[in-house]
Amino acid sequence: MIRVTEAAAIAAARWAGRGDKMAADGAAVDAMRFVLGAVAMDGIVVIGEGEKDEAPMLYNGEHIGNGEPPMVDVAVDPIDGTTMTAMGRKGAVSVIALSERGTMFNPGPCVYMRKIAVGPRGRGAVDINATPTENLRELAKRLGKPVQELGVVVLDRPRHHDLIGEVREAGARVLLISDGDVTGAIATGWPNSGADLLLGIGGTPEGVIAAAALKGLGGEIQGVLHPRDEVERETAIAMGYDLDRVLTTDDLVTGDNCYFSATAVTDGDFLKGVRFTEFGATTQSLVVRSQSGTVRTIETFHRHNKLQEFTTPAF
Ligand code: FBP
Repeated sequence: MIRVTEAAAIAAARWAGRGDKMAADGAAVDAMRFVLGAVAMDGIVVIGEGEKDEAPMLYNGEHIGNGEPPMVDVAVDPIDGTTMTAMGRKGAVSVIALSERGTMFNPGPCVYMRKIAVGPRGRGAVDINATPTENLRELAKRLGKPVQELGVVVLDRPRHHDLIGEVREAGARVLLISDGDVTGAIATGWPNSGADLLLGIGGTPEGVIAAAALKGLGGEIQGVLHPRDEVERETAIAMGYDLDRVLTTDDLVTGDNCYFSATAVTDGDFLKGVRFTEFGATTQSLVVRSQSGTVRTIETFHRHNKLQEFTTPAF
């Protein structure tokens, strides 16, 4: 799996700072899809490049892998942070999550989800239906520190105006991010990241992918689908989605056999972005396996001349 996100990140990094998010995303999708084709698995894309990105490849329902067992559900986000990549900003990653067939939540038409995420120590202390103030109080108790010392990751969006106001009013510190709430959720489970809680509305696909990562990290995410308008609401209800249901980490990715890999495109809080060298490139990735709870950070040196012989169009 790590080869998949490495290839996508390297391809995307060639477009970093060049102001063209479609080109960056397209390059990452191509590279990811190419490498996925060689992976020994019978995969179905459950979370793909969906409606929001209007991408023609890695679409939901696409079969990927070489068709051999294991049968798996696949969630991809060739770039989480396409704008950050295009602008050369920090924090963009390429991510993939894999779980056994039939275990990944299919968001259908629901592009957005209201989310709350915490790391291992906060698990069980929060409730998405409680107010931010209540959650901050409970989390502070659980973590044994005052609310004033909590760091709360929130996407910097006008829709979060009231949420940000309430968190500040409660005394906690708001850590605004311009994009990339997969990494924002992971931060809550990353030692000493300074982030204790993620709150707000973000992509449903990103919520499912974050669930796969948080399973391995021992954290928790809860989500409630958040339709953008009346049409989306009615479509979702007609398709059988319960818009009041709290989706737990286990609802988003059922079972305990999932994998997550992320490779940094640009520099981030825990991983360094792609560096191009005279020999090729270096990448840093995070690989998480839920069954064992293993969390690996992996630095890889990619050699152009070797890779060209057998692998990715990223070079
Ligand atoms: P993209 O890279 O696909 O644009 O997603 C970035 C992202 O910030 C996600 O991390 C987040 O879940 C979502 O967009 C939020 O959506 P919006 O930008 O529409 O508020």
